[in-house]
Amino acid sequence: MISRRKFIAASSAVALGAIVKPVFANVKSLTKEDSQVKKEMIPMVISTWNHGIPANEAAWKVLETGGNSLDAVEQGVQIPEADPNVMSVGYGGFPDRDGHVTLDACIMNKDGDCGSVSFLQHIKHPIAVARKVMEETPHVMLSGEGALQFALEQGFVKENLLTDQAKKAWEEWKVNSKYLPKINAENHDTIGMLAIDEAGDIAGACTTSGAAYKYHGRVGDSPIIGAGLYIDNEVGGAVATGQGELVMKTLGTFLVVELMRNGMNPQEACKEAVKRIVTKLKNYKEFQVGYLAINKSAEVGSYCIHPGFNYALYQNDKNTLIDSDSYLKS
Ligand code: GLY
Repeated sequence: MISRRKFIAASSAVALGAIVKPVFANVKSLTKEDSQVKKEMIPMVISTWNHGIPANEAAWKVLETGGNSLDAVEQGVQIPEADPNVMSVGYGGFPDRDGHVTLDACIMNKDGDCGSVSFLQHIKHPIAVARKVMEETPHVMLSGEGALQFALEQGFVKENLLTDQAKKAWEEWKVNSKYLPKINAENHDTIGMLAIDEAGDIAGACTTSGAAYKYHGRVGDSPIIGAGLYIDNEVGGAVATGQGELVMKTLGTFLVVELMRNGMNPQEACKEAVKRIVTKLKNYKEFQVGYLAINKSAEVGSYCIHPGFNYALYQNDKNTLIDSDSYLKS
């Protein structure tokens, strides 16, 4: 006789099968061989958008001298954080609708430890504060005033992050005050970075000033572990860029890593995570989202909604900007 548990499982599967195509159904599980890193492929670092090129350079300096992936990603993303011309990350980032630059960042290491700051003001390197949260507190995330207080206690310096350039743009925006996120605005957005060091260990970092002219207090995907960034050193890692709300609603980078755990390569996993947005969220065409992923074998994948997303890959002594494939073709 069929047991009650088996019956419930079988009938649920039939019912669900009618409406939801299981994404894990046709994929094989990872074997030990799948996870063998080819030594000539590492170290490596990848990061989102064209500001990833100088960020990768800084990360590479750490990796090529035998440094670890956590130090590499922290050093790497600090380049756009400090660059006033990168107006979507750190110092010089576009402010919120009230004229405040508020920053989100997170970092994750090979052991599954992570640290994050959200809605942080006045600190040029939120990624370094996120690392301190990971290493110096029992918590994962600190936010707002508490995050600032913690940063100051840790010796970070309070600075004005609103540059004249960003202030001028905000004043022009205030004339009409319309919140209209632009797809691929200025060809950059969040910097998300993933690295594999000589030992084969993976770490990642993600940092942003978030959506320009957002509501004061808005937090995006970038400091949310599993949305903006996720690492599982047994499997791989993923980062997200673009409109954070879509990534948060689908827990995008956790999904990408889980898809890889179940046998997809990074490209297939990024594509499936974009497909999840496209099938679940009606307004997807209004926004850009891009995913970037690596697996334990140092394979790379990326996929986005609209054409225009690119990423920088530093491997075998070459730092190259690569266009991502997209769901919409024009
Ligand atoms: N992906 C950055 C943000 O939406 O804040």
